[in-house]
Amino acid sequence: MMQRMYQVYHIRIANPLQTCVIIISQFLLIIGIKMVFKLIALAFLFGLTAAWLPETDKQLSSSDGKNLFSTSNGKIRGVNMGNHFVFEPWIAEDVWSDMGCKGQESEFDCVSSIGQDAANSAFQKHWESWISKADIHEIQSYGLNTIRIPVGYWMKEDLVYASEHFPQGGFDYLERLCGWASDAGLYIIIDFHGLPGAQTPENAFTGQYVSNASFYQDYQYDRAVEFLGWMTTKIHQSKKFRNVGMLELVNEPVQETGKANSMRSKYYPDAFKTIRAIEKNLNIKKRDYLHIQVMNEAWGSGNPNEFIDDLYYTAYDGHIYLKWAGIETKEAYLNTSCSNLLDNLSPTIVGEWSLSVADETGWNSDWDPALNTDFYKRWFAAQVTTYEKRLGWVFWTWKAQLGDYRWSYKDAVFAGVIPTDLNSVFDMRVCEQI
Ligand SMILES: *[C@@H]1O[C@H](CO)[C@@H](O)[C@H](O)[C@H]1NC(C)=O
Ligand SMILES: *[C@@H]1O[C@H](CO)[C@@H](O)[C@H](O)[C@H]1NC(C)=O
Repeated sequence: MMQRMYQVYHIRIANPLQTCVIIISQFLLIIGIKMVFKLIALAFLFGLTAAWLPETDKQLSSSDGKNLFSTSNGKIRGVNMGNHFVFEPWIAEDVWSDMGCKGQESEFDCVSSIGQDAANSAFQKHWESWISKADIHEIQSYGLNTIRIPVGYWMKEDLVYASEHFPQGGFDYLERLCGWASDAGLYIIIDFHGLPGAQTPENAFTGQYVSNASFYQDYQYDRAVEFLGWMTTKIHQSKKFRNVGMLELVNEPVQETGKANSMRSKYYPDAFKTIRAIEKNLNIKKRDYLHIQVMNEAWGSGNPNEFIDDLYYTAYDGHIYLKWAGIETKEAYLNTSCSNLLDNLSPTIVGEWSLSVADETGWNSDWDPALNTDFYKRWFAAQVTTYEKRLGWVFWTWKAQLGDYRWSYKDAVFAGVIPTDLNSVFDMRVCEQI
């Protein structure tokens, strides 16, 4: 636009001296305007990177006009869509068994066992029912404003080798779910949970139960980056994905130094460059870029920033499961949750946590969820209080078939342990009493 203005003056004025003066003054004007633009852009950038919130970057509201972040002061309050696109048999054994997968360790094992066609229809039935539109409305009605959706690389079906076995058809269900969530005004984090070759051994959450985490090599990184690039394009091109603001590169990688360093130095930079290049090609405005999320340093796989050149719109994920911290008393759970458990990377979201305590004693009378609702209420409040000192939290998980509200947000609301007015937990002043 500036360029065109300049040309117009240049053509119209005949006197060379006059032309020169006008050209110079135009030039100064252009520089001046450019500087102002630059300053505004800088201010905007700092505002964004220093304190990114869905509320300030982008106003999210539901189709019927509700802004779910205004009541949370911009903090993320969310639930994981656990067990939906990446099935973890321990969470829902009955469903797993009804699908014909009984005794199988992972999606890969089940599909190998029952065959592709039977698996496709069993999993489609699961995607139809595990998280429905009614769930999204229930989530919204509890004052939650975010969902985190675990997905596996097999959703991009041409990435799957003939020797690999996964259910097909998941992507349409992801798009549909994101459409419902966007209509409901929820913020969406898509979390890359199952990576090629498995990013952690012996864990169904990678989609395959394998003894060696074989993700940590170049050809697997390339496959994972291809998945992310594809997902980035899909997110920016479909209206149903309009509330997806964050894409997480890898859920819970190993802490082992060699593998973790290789991942941070090769996979992270490749993933960042690919996602940004695609966004640039699609002419996405920088302020509409996805946040790229990585596990924080406290996770133990090293400093996630070390090999990334451009940290614009980077976010961090902290997972806090105190059940494995060797804690023995209620006071110590509360005390620990009230202290800062996170590193200083910002913005950090606690993307997974629960109310589950140590397995050995978890069903004793001192810890039984039915007999100790007061403690679990206080512990919920303590965790929320601490995590909201950062960007917020996403509970693991929305629903489960465990008969144990400590792993199920929905059940905890029914049990009266989690209030539907989430701001009320601050009135308990749990962290001020210890
Ligand atoms: C285990 O996985 C790593 C990559 O993550 C690979 O380099 C290594 O060769 C694998 N080991 C075996 C025994 O397959
Ligand atoms: C609470 O935490 C503080 C500091 O982390 C520690 O000194 C204190 O012993 C803890 N109290 C309990 C009851 O665990």
